[in-house]
Amino acid sequence: MVQIGNIQLPDFPLLLAPMEDVSDPPFRVVCKRNGADLVFTEFISSEGLIRDAIRCRRKLDIYDEERPTGIQLFGGDEERLALAAKIVDVTQPELLDINFGCPVKGIVAQGAGAGVLRDVDLMVRLTEACVKSTNLPVTVKTRLGWDDDSKNIEEVAERLQDVGIKALTIHGRTRCQLYKGEADWSLIAKVKNNPRIHIPIFGNGDINSPQKALEYKNRYGVDGIMIGRAVIGYPWLFREIRHYLQTGELLPAPTVSERVDVCKQQLHKSLQYKGPVAGIYAMRGHYLRYLKGLPGVKEFRTSLMTLTDPEAIAAVLDDILVRYEGYTMERAPIELVNYHENCPL
Ligand SMILES: Cc1cc2nc3c(=O)[nH]c(=O)nc-3n(C[C@H](O)[C@H](O)[C@H](O)COP(=O)(O)O)c2cc1C
Repeated sequence: MVQIGNIQLPDFPLLLAPMEDVSDPPFRVVCKRNGADLVFTEFISSEGLIRDAIRCRRKLDIYDEERPTGIQLFGGDEERLALAAKIVDVTQPELLDINFGCPVKGIVAQGAGAGVLRDVDLMVRLTEACVKSTNLPVTVKTRLGWDDDSKNIEEVAERLQDVGIKALTIHGRTRCQLYKGEADWSLIAKVKNNPRIHIPIFGNGDINSPQKALEYKNRYGVDGIMIGRAVIGYPWLFREIRHYLQTGELLPAPTVSERVDVCKQQLHKSLQYKGPVAGIYAMRGHYLRYLKGLPGVKEFRTSLMTLTDPEAIAAVLDDILVRYEGYTMERAPIELVNYHENCPL
């Protein structure tokens, strides 16, 4: 059992990463149904939440069935972050997570996201302000440090634990690495093995198969893992990892019927959450990812990308079922995209 404040999670929990424009309630539900133990919202601007509470309020919506859910905030001003934490408190997620990992220039320039890795005192003050202003357990997600010459995560972990965070997730890259190279989990393991550290430490970065999850679990000894890119279009990875950890066996790849089912489930939730127009648009990027690997499936692309009537879309999904009846999907490696590839530093 892993404990975050008063939240109890199973041993070695599998966490859905906060992902902007991806980790919305419909996707979180799909991940939860497929084995995620704890899910996070995309990052939410503390300024935005304070100034435009009505628009940002939608980002705080949580379906009961996806819980436990963490709401993630970012901001570079103590008072404003603390105020935003109070607003979040009212909506009753299970926990509040602070983003100290976003490498994007605009966020870093506000002294938020990974920007504070250059100013640990500020990071500590921001965290303490949040902890004091909410009753929720506060967690932090961050990176190894600012750049190769300033990997300060060991100091960061101790100091954030001292001001009351209840868990820490570490993406095994520096801010300046963005997504380049391989995530380095050895420093994450050092944090975990520090005898001063007693909060759960979750590893993050590059997990894309059950075998890698087991290997990293054994090699780095973390309390659980957070997964981002690999589950975009493949939420079944959560259950595959859980099954592999428990039995040492790989589950067969999800069937066509399971894939179509996930498309329908997410469409249904998306319509409910975003309404009839935005709900349809929001799904357009998802269908082909879920159906990736089906030979010839692109011929359905135009219909899935242009139809606006949910029943017509469901009919196309049913046609896919008929067309591929009896087809066995092979397991395929999950590629990790180099997100932020062209992002200016
Ligand atoms: C599309 C996308 C959006 C992201 N948005 C956020 C975010 O809002 N907050 C955050 O802390 N990290 C964000 N991240 C980073 C992920 O949470 C995660 O740390 C990173 O992708 C490394 O994990 P992975 O290798 O499993 O993808 C985002 C990543 C992606 C791919």
